[in-house]
Amino acid sequence: MRIAPSLLSADFARLGEEVTAVIDAGADLIHFDVMDNHYVPNLTVGPLVCQAIKPYAVRGDQPVPIDVHLMVKPVDALIPMFAQAGASLISFHPEASEHIDRTVQLIRSLGMKAGLVLNPATPLHCLDHVLEQLDLVLLMSVNPGYGGQSFIEHVLPKIEAVRRRIDATGRDIWLEVDGGIKADNAQRVGNAGADTLVAGSAVFSGGRYRESIAAIRDNALAGQRLRRTPARRAHDA
Ligand code: DX5
Ligand code: ZN
Repeated sequence: MRIAPSLLSADFARLGEEVTAVIDAGADLIHFDVMDNHYVPNLTVGPLVCQAIKPYAVRGDQPVPIDVHLMVKPVDALIPMFAQAGASLISFHPEASEHIDRTVQLIRSLGMKAGLVLNPATPLHCLDHVLEQLDLVLLMSVNPGYGGQSFIEHVLPKIEAVRRRIDATGRDIWLEVDGGIKADNAQRVGNAGADTLVAGSAVFSGGRYRESIAAIRDNALAGQRLRRTPARRAHDA
C-alpha cells in the first residue's frame, strides 16, 4: 500500500523541507499536482518547481519517485520538460489529450511510468484500448482542481471495477486513488482494490505527518486484507 502525499497542501514557502518531512514520515511517492487554469480552474506549479524539489526526493541514497499529475491541456509539450525535471511517473487526463496512445508512448519513451486519470464521471471505456500500455490508473475521487474536497462515495464501485479489469490483464498496473482520502475512508478505498493512495490535506493539515500517513496506510491495508476472503484467495489461486 503506497501513500503519496500531495504537495498541494504543503507550505509552498518551504517545499524542500516539506518533501523531506513527508519522506521521513513514511511517504512512498511525492504527488505533484500541476494545474493550468484552463483544464482546471486553479493554477499551481510546473517543471521548474519539480526540478527544485528533486534533490529532496530521496530516502538515504534512494530516489523517492515524483508522481506528476498533469491537469493541463494540451499535455504533450510539458512531458519532455517534466522528464528533464526528474519526474518518475506522469499521469494525464484523457479529455486533455487529442491522441491518448501517442501521449502514453511519449511518456514511456522518455523512461517514465505512464498513468491515465479518470475523473469521477469519466467512463471506464476510456481504458479499453490503452490499459495494457499503462503503468497506473489514477481514479479521481473528487473533481480535479482543489485540495481539501470531500471524497465522492460513488467512486468506490468504480475502484472495484478497475481492480477487476487490471487483474484480468495479469499485469502489474498500479491503481491509485486521489481526492478526499482520510484515515476514516482509507479502509473502504483499500477494500475496493486501490494500492496507492494520494492524500493532501489529511497529511499536511494536521501537522503530524507520521501519524497521519500511518493511519491512512494501516486502515487501507486492513481494507485490503478484508478483500482477500477465503473464497477470493481460492479464486486467485
Ligand atoms: C485535486 C488533486 C489532488 C488533491 C488531493 O485536483 O489532484 O491531488 O490535492 O488533496 P486532498 O487529499 O486534500 O483531497
Ligand atoms: Zn492529484
